[in-house]
Amino acid sequence: MRINKYLSGCGIDSRRKCEKLITDGRVRVNGKTITVLATDIKDGDTVEVDGKYVGQSSRKVYIMLNKPKGCVCTASDDKGRKTVLDMVKVKERIFPVGRLDYDTEGLILLTNDGDTANIITHPRNMVKKVYSVRVEGEPTDAEIKRLRNGVEYCGVKYAPAQVKVLGSQDGETKLEITITEGKNHEIKNMIESLGRRVLFLKRTEIAGLRLGGLSRGEWRYLNPREIERLKTLS
Ligand code: URA
Repeated sequence: MRINKYLSGCGIDSRRKCEKLITDGRVRVNGKTITVLATDIKDGDTVEVDGKYVGQSSRKVYIMLNKPKGCVCTASDDKGRKTVLDMVKVKERIFPVGRLDYDTEGLILLTNDGDTANIITHPRNMVKKVYSVRVEGEPTDAEIKRLRNGVEYCGVKYAPAQVKVLGSQDGETKLEITITEGKNHEIKNMIESLGRRVLFLKRTEIAGLRLGGLSRGEWRYLNPREIERLKTLS
C-alpha cells in the first residue's frame, strides 16, 4: 500500500497532508527517513511519524462534531490554539475531513478512514456542503445572481452556488449557500467578491448529513446508514 494511503488509514491526516509529512522528512520506514511519495508499505514494515510508531486500527470510526468558533481543524496548532481533536476524545487516532476556519462553526466530520475522507474531499465527487451565512447589508438581486453564476476573487474562480435568500433584518441578510467545491475560505471569498463581509458562518450539512440537534462542541458517531451514504458518494 502507498505510504500516504497507509498513514491516512492510521488516522494521521488526509492523504494530501500525509504527503507533506513525507516530503518534510518526518516519516521513517524500518528506521530510515523516506521522502519519496511512491514508497510502498508491506506487511511487517515499521512506520514512524515524528519518532512515534504508528499502525492501522482495524476499527474505523466516523464522527460528526459541531465545531464551535475559536478552534482550528488541524491535528496540532503552532500558536497553541484549541483544535477539534481536543474536543473529541476517542482511543483511535482520527483526523478532520477538510476544514472550517477558526471563526466558522458547524459540521465537521472526523475519521481514521482515509479512503472515505478522500471520497468526501475529492473535487471530482462534488459533494454538497450547505452553509448558513449572515452578510453585511442587503445583497441586490444582481449580486445574488453573480453568486449563482460563479464569481472570481483574487484570481480564484468559484463555481456556481445555490443561494437562498432567507431575509434581511437590522442591516444584515441571512443566506443559505450550497457549494460543491472545498476551496480555502470559499464562502467568505465569494461574499468578498461582492464587496461585502461575512458576519457569521456555520456549516449545517455535508452530503445530506445534518447537524440536527448537536449543540456547539458536542459530537456523535455516525450511524451505519450515514456511513454507507458517505462511502457511496464516488
Ligand atoms: N467557507 C469559508 O469561507 N470558511 C469556512 O470555514 C468554510 C467555507
